[in-house]
Amino acid sequence: MQLLTVEKLCKSFGGLKAINNLDFHVNEGEIVGIIGPNGSGKTTSLNLLTGFLKPNSGRINFRGEEIGGLPRHIVCQKGIARTFQLCKPFMDFTAMQNVMVARAYGRKPSANLHIAEKESIDILEQVGLGSKAGILVKDLRVMERKRLELARALATKPYLLLLDELMAGLNLTEADEACKLINQIRESNITIIMVEHIVKAVTCVSDRIIVFNMGEKIAEGQPEEIVHNPKVIEVYLGKSHA
Ligand SMILES: Nc1ncnc2c1ncn2[C@@H]1O[C@H](COP(=O)(O)OP(=O)(O)O)[C@@H](O)[C@H]1O
Ligand SMILES: [Mg+2]
Repeated sequence: MQLLTVEKLCKSFGGLKAINNLDFHVNEGEIVGIIGPNGSGKTTSLNLLTGFLKPNSGRINFRGEEIGGLPRHIVCQKGIARTFQLCKPFMDFTAMQNVMVARAYGRKPSANLHIAEKESIDILEQVGLGSKAGILVKDLRVMERKRLELARALATKPYLLLLDELMAGLNLTEADEACKLINQIRESNITIIMVEHIVKAVTCVSDRIIVFNMGEKIAEGQPEEIVHNPKVIEVYLGKSHA
């Protein structure tokens, strides 16, 4: 079943067509990877899906409902969560307080503070941060902040989770850990779109990959097709990947 269907989506900034006639869909339970050169519109597409930007035209259907142009908090309550290319936690809060804020908003917010605390601890444990609940975010390491970013998104109880370059700044071992975590999240019945630069990671984890170039979708398919697609090699992967 299609969870998300994007049709003829367009977004310009002045004269620049950042997203041009974009069509794609995501099935329930899938992990879809989005790759493409810098400036190809990946983050803009996530901003459009989550209400951070309003489309100029086109449709975004999520669970049978048009959501294009809705405010971001409403999109979040409908069940789409995201992480940011640059993490945006509350730095002077503890890990736990950050997750509790997210439990108070989003879909199915906790009924009271006591329940929010308990649920937040469960979510921190799910992402491997159980022992860091009381630590201030500014004292967390990079990988721990990434885990917290995931925890905050999960705390809004999404059907669809959008990850914007979650693995940027991680070493290969940490990127492997992140892949495992993403697979674990999928097993908890959350559909995932991941924008990622680490090609090995995105090809390992994704069921399907969509390739952007200059605001347009230039290819779509299984990871093994994509890494051998001549157009994708030319605009993004480079010959060494072929
Ligand atoms: N808020 C904005 N205002 C003006 N131009 C923007 C804005 N956001 C993105 N752009 C431009 O849109 C294009 C796509 O950017 P982006 O979606 O961030 O690319 P990617 O995430 O693929 O690197 C780039 O040329 C970028 O400079
Ligand atoms: Mg980006």
